[in-house]
Amino acid sequence: MIIAIANQKGGSGKTTTAINLAAALAERGKQVIVIDADPQASAQDWAGAAPQGRPFPVFVVGYARSNLAQHIEHIKEQYDYILIDCPPALGEMSRAAMSASDLVLIPVPPSPLDIRAAAPTITLYHEARTGRPQLRAALLVTRRIAGTSVGKQAAQALLGYELPVLSTEIYQRSAHVNAAGYGLPVTSFEPRGKAAQEYRRLAEEIASG
Ligand SMILES: Nc1ncnc2c1ncn2[C@@H]1O[C@H](COP(=O)(O)OP(=O)(O)O)[C@@H](O)[C@H]1O
Ligand SMILES: [Mg+2]
Repeated sequence: MIIAIANQKGGSGKTTTAINLAAALAERGKQVIVIDADPQASAQDWAGAAPQGRPFPVFVVGYARSNLAQHIEHIKEQYDYILIDCPPALGEMSRAAMSASDLVLIPVPPSPLDIRAAAPTITLYHEARTGRPQLRAALLVTRRIAGTSVGKQAAQALLGYELPVLSTEIYQRSAHVNAAGYGLPVTSFEPRGKAAQEYRRLAEEIASG
């Protein structure tokens, strides 16, 4: 399965989701690779900071600017999941990533501003889908602040996009910031923590279709 993790807005949780979802899927015994399609190369930085003797559990590769679709075609047979960490822009790269995918996963922090900011990404998804009818999309609530409910308005605004909203929600947790500093996914950094459990739940939800 090929998953493009896309949202034009920086800071929405794309890279955090690519890294931690990949690690959680790998924990389930799946062959997983992350393609870092962001020129800022955050996913590669993250994996590259892994401590000596504790290799990052998932292979993270840069995207060599040739044809993404061809590249994926080449490696597709080797992996159960190919996750593409898209850049915070809706240029050719995000378009190519969506057009090569089975699922566009759109992380959205549950604030009115962030929800509105997801609109152009969803438009790009609908465009990509015209050439690839099997392409699905799902919204993922990320960076939710504990102790708050996703406001009624926010929930309605999310549903207003008429795309599935995953039942797993990812909360804002310090483990994410710390894990990134140590070059680890939360599933390795704090295996029993809530942040790890949330990404495991997401992996389960994705794996169960
Ligand atoms: N669930 C979370 N809890 C705490 N911090 C988070 C969470 N998700 C993302 N962050 C932090 O927010 C910043 C942006 O997240 P990132 O995943 O890099 O977003 P994007 O790739 O969409 O730009 C990073 O510093 C990251 O550590
Ligand atoms: Mg990123």
